[in-house]
Amino acid sequence: MESALLPFPDIDTPALLLEREALQHNIDTMQARAREAGLALRPHAKAHKCLEIGRLQRDAGAVGLCCAKLGEAEVMAAGGLDDLLVTTPVAGALKIARLVDLARRARVRVVADDAANLAELDAAAQAAGVTLGVVIEIDVGQGRCGVPPGPPAAELARLVLQARGLSFEGVQGYQGGLQCVADYAARESQVGQAMEALERSLAALREAGIAVPTITGGGTGSFPIDARLRRLTEVQPGSYVTMDAAYAAVQWTGGAAMPLARPLSILASVVSRPTRDKVIIDVGWKSANSDGMPPRCKNRPDLSFEFAGDEHGALVAASGEIDLRPGDRIELLPGHCDTTVNLYDRFVVHARGQVQAIWPIAARGKSH
Ligand SMILES: Cc1ncc(COP(=O)(O)O)c(C=O)c1O
Repeated sequence: MESALLPFPDIDTPALLLEREALQHNIDTMQARAREAGLALRPHAKAHKCLEIGRLQRDAGAVGLCCAKLGEAEVMAAGGLDDLLVTTPVAGALKIARLVDLARRARVRVVADDAANLAELDAAAQAAGVTLGVVIEIDVGQGRCGVPPGPPAAELARLVLQARGLSFEGVQGYQGGLQCVADYAARESQVGQAMEALERSLAALREAGIAVPTITGGGTGSFPIDARLRRLTEVQPGSYVTMDAAYAAVQWTGGAAMPLARPLSILASVVSRPTRDKVIIDVGWKSANSDGMPPRCKNRPDLSFEFAGDEHGALVAASGEIDLRPGDRIELLPGHCDTTVNLYDRFVVHARGQVQAIWPIAARGKSH
C-alpha cells in the first residue's frame, strides 16, 4: 500500500529514481528544438552513462553520443551505440591502444589539442590499420583543454590532414563554466564571447583553406542561445535528459519558462529523529553529489538538506516541527546529476507511481 510518505515500498534505499514520461519529454523536447534550429544533436552520455537512455536518444534522432572518457565510450560501443565522440583528449600509449582498438568496432572520433599527441594517434592508427577521426579542441573560455583561439587550430588541422592514419572531422568549443549561470542575460553574453573566440579559429581555418565538417560544443544551459546563434553545427547537451537542482535554478531564456522536466530523484529513508525539527536520512556523500549545489527535497521547500557524513544527511523543518518519522521515505532532487548518477549501479524507472524497469548504469565508474 503506497502513501505520500512511503513511495515504492519494494525498493530499498538509497535508490536513484527516473520518471519515464518526464525522461521521454526531455529527450523529445531537446531533439525537436535542435531539429528546428537545424543543429545535429549529439547528447553527452557522461550525464546518464546508461545504454537504455542512449538508445532512446538515438531512436529520437540523435546523430550519436559524446563520451567524456574512453571507458564510457567502450561501454556505449559494446551496447551498440557506435557513433561516438570522445570530448577530452586521449593521451598516453595505454589509452591510445584502447582507442584504436575501439575504432575497429565503432565510428569513434577523438578531441585533440597537441601536436605530439596527434603524432602518437597517427602512428597507432596506422599500425592498427584504422583511420581515426580527430576534432581539434579550442579553449573558448573554460581554461581546461584546447588550443587558444585563432591560428593554432589551423596549424593542428593541417597536421591532421597530413597524417595518413587520421581524418580531420572539425572543431570543438565547449565552455562548461557558463552552463549553469542562472541569469539568462549574463549567460547569453558569455556564450556570445565563447562563440567569438571560436570564430577566430574558424576564420584562421578558412584563411588556410581548410573545410570544417563539424563545429561541435554547447551544453544544456547554452542550448537556447546556441539554437538562436547557430554558430555550432552540432550540440552536446548532457544534463537536459535527467536535469538536477542546479539546472532547475537556471533561467532558460529571457522570457520562456523552462521546458525541461525533472525525472531524476533520490529515494531516501528516515533512520532517526534526534530532535523535533530534524530527521536523519540514509543519503550522504556516498549517495548524493557532494560537489556544487546540495540536494533539495522534492515538493518540500519547507525542508532543508544538510550533509551529515558519508552515509547520512539531515533534513531540518523550517517550522520547527518535522512531520517525518523513522522508516518514512522522501525524494530528493540531486544538486548535480552527473556526479550523483556515477554513485549508483542502476536507475529505478517508474511511471504513474509504479516501478516499470531497472536500467543498469553500465558506464558508472568508467572514468579510465
Ligand atoms: C565537452 C562537454 N560537452 C557537453 C557537456 C554537457 O553539458 P551539460 O551537462 O551541462 O549539458 C559537458 C559537460 O560537462 C562537456 O564536458
